[in-house]
Amino acid sequence: MSKREPELKITAEEIQRIQKIIKEVRAKNDKEFVRTGKQKTYYITTFGCQMNAHDSEKLIGMVEQMGYTPADKEKEADFILYNTCCVRENAEHKVFGKLGALKHVKARNNDLKIVLCGCMMQQEKVLNTIKQKYRHVDLIFGTFNLYKFPELFLASIETSGMIIDIWKEHKEIMEDLPSIRKYKFKACVNIMYGCNNFCTYCIVPFVRGRERSRSPEDIVQEIKDLVQDGVKEIMLLGQNVNSYGKNLEDQTSFAELLYKINEVEGLERIRFMTSHPKDLSDELIEAMRSCEKVCKHLHLPIQAGSTKILTAMNRKYTKEEYTLLARKIQDAIPGIALTTDIIVGFPGETEEDFQDTLDILKEIQFHSAYTFLYSIRSGTPAATMDDQVIEEVAQERFSRLLGVLNPIILTHSEALIGKTIEVLVEEVSKQAEGILAGRSDQNHLVHFAGKEELIGQIVSVKIIEAKTFYVVGEKV
Ligand code: SAH
Ligand code: SF4
Ligand code: F3S
Repeated sequence: MSKREPELKITAEEIQRIQKIIKEVRAKNDKEFVRTGKQKTYYITTFGCQMNAHDSEKLIGMVEQMGYTPADKEKEADFILYNTCCVRENAEHKVFGKLGALKHVKARNNDLKIVLCGCMMQQEKVLNTIKQKYRHVDLIFGTFNLYKFPELFLASIETSGMIIDIWKEHKEIMEDLPSIRKYKFKACVNIMYGCNNFCTYCIVPFVRGRERSRSPEDIVQEIKDLVQDGVKEIMLLGQNVNSYGKNLEDQTSFAELLYKINEVEGLERIRFMTSHPKDLSDELIEAMRSCEKVCKHLHLPIQAGSTKILTAMNRKYTKEEYTLLARKIQDAIPGIALTTDIIVGFPGETEEDFQDTLDILKEIQFHSAYTFLYSIRSGTPAATMDDQVIEEVAQERFSRLLGVLNPIILTHSEALIGKTIEVLVEEVSKQAEGILAGRSDQNHLVHFAGKEELIGQIVSVKIIEAKTFYVVGEKV
C-alpha cells in the first residue's frame, strides 16, 4: 500500500543520474590533480536556520564526493558557496557585503567558482540585483532544486557566464543525498519541508513553499542508518513539526512519529524544532511525556505577548491561550525547559503591547529566548501595514526586553548548581584550554574540564557555577 503521494519523491533513477554526474566532476578533478598536483578546495558559508545548515551538510556531501577538500580560508578556495537566508534584512546585507568583497578575488582568479543558493535566491528582486551588480557570480540555484546542484555545477564548469536555475515551487522531496555531518554523534533529519502558516511578517512560506511531509518509514529508516553510523542524538526539523503528516495518505501525526522514533534501538536523544503553539496537541504532550528519549526541552515561539499583535501577526492564538498551553506542558512534564522566539517592534506595537510581552516572559519564565527586531520583508502583509514602529523605539524596547529576559535565564542556570546532569559532550570549548562543551537534556550549555576523547559521549556532570548563557561543572 502506498502511504504517500508518489510524485513527491525523487526517483531512484534520478538519484543515480545525479550520482553519475558527481563521478564525472570527480574524474575531471582527479585529472586536474594529476596535472597540477593540487587538490581543489571549497569553502561554504551558511546563513539562517538549522534547515539551511542541514541543506549545507547535503551540499558538502556532494562537493566532497566531487573531489573537493575543505579550504582553511575563503580567499584560498577554488569553490565558494553561500547558502543564504532572507528571514531578516541583515542576513541579506551580509551576503551582498561578502559578494562585493569577492569581486577582486575573482578578478585575480578566473577559475574560482562562486555559487549562491538558499532562501534569498527565491526572490526575484535579489536575482535582479545580482544580475546587475554582481556579474562575477557563476551559479545560482534555489531551495527547491538543491539536489540538482551537481548537474548545474557541471554545466557551470563547462561554460562561462552566470547560470541561474530557480524553481518557483517544489517538485520532489529530497531523499538519499550524500551528506557530511558536522558532528559524528548528532544529526538533523528533515521530517517535512515548507510552511503553510503565513505569519504576516514572515518570508519563509514564500521561499520554502507549501508544507510536505516525508513518510514515517523513510524518516525511521534514515534514523536507523544514522544510529548505525554512530549518531546518539537527532534533531527532527520542520517549520512547524506539529502539523507533520497532514499531506500523507495515512495522516500519521507528529506524536505517532515520535513513538516510532523512540523505538529505534541505540538512539539516545530526540529533539525537534519548531513547534507552532496553535497546533500543539494533548496527544503530543503525552508522547513527549512518555517517550523517554524525547528531551525535556520544547521550543515554542510566542513572538509577542499582546493578543492584538498576535492577531495582526496571524499567529492564531491569544496571550491567554499561549499561557494556558505553557502551563499545561509544564504541569504534564515536570522539569521541561521552554524556550521561545520574540519579535520586538512589529507594526502597531504600542508601549502597552510591549508590556504584554514583558509580562508573559515573567509569567512563563522561559529558559531562553531568541529575540529579534522586526525586519520588513517586502511581499509580506506586514510590510505594508500602517504604524511601522520607528527604529529607535524598537531598539530601546529590545534593550529593555533583554534586561528582563537575561535575569530569568540566569535563574534557571543557578537552579542547576549542586545538581548532577547528563551531558552529551559536543566539542572543545573555545573559551579555555582543556574545557569541553556539551548540552544537557534541557538544552543547557555545559562547560567542564575533560579530555577530548569524551566528545560524543553522554557523561554525568555536577554543576558548580552558573552564568547567564552557560553553566560550569565537574565530571563525576
Ligand atoms: N517556523 C518557525 C520559525 C522560522 S523563522 C516558527 O514559526 O517558529 C525563525 C524566527 O525568526 C521566527 O520565529 C521569528 O521570531 C523570526 N522572524 C521571522 N520573520 C521575521 C521578521 N520579518 N523580522 C524579525 N524576525 C522574524
Ligand atoms: Fe514563518 Fe510563521 Fe511559518 Fe514560522 S510558522 S516559518 S514564523 S510563517
Ligand atoms: Fe531558514 Fe532563513 Fe530560509 S531562517 S528557512 S534560511 S529564510
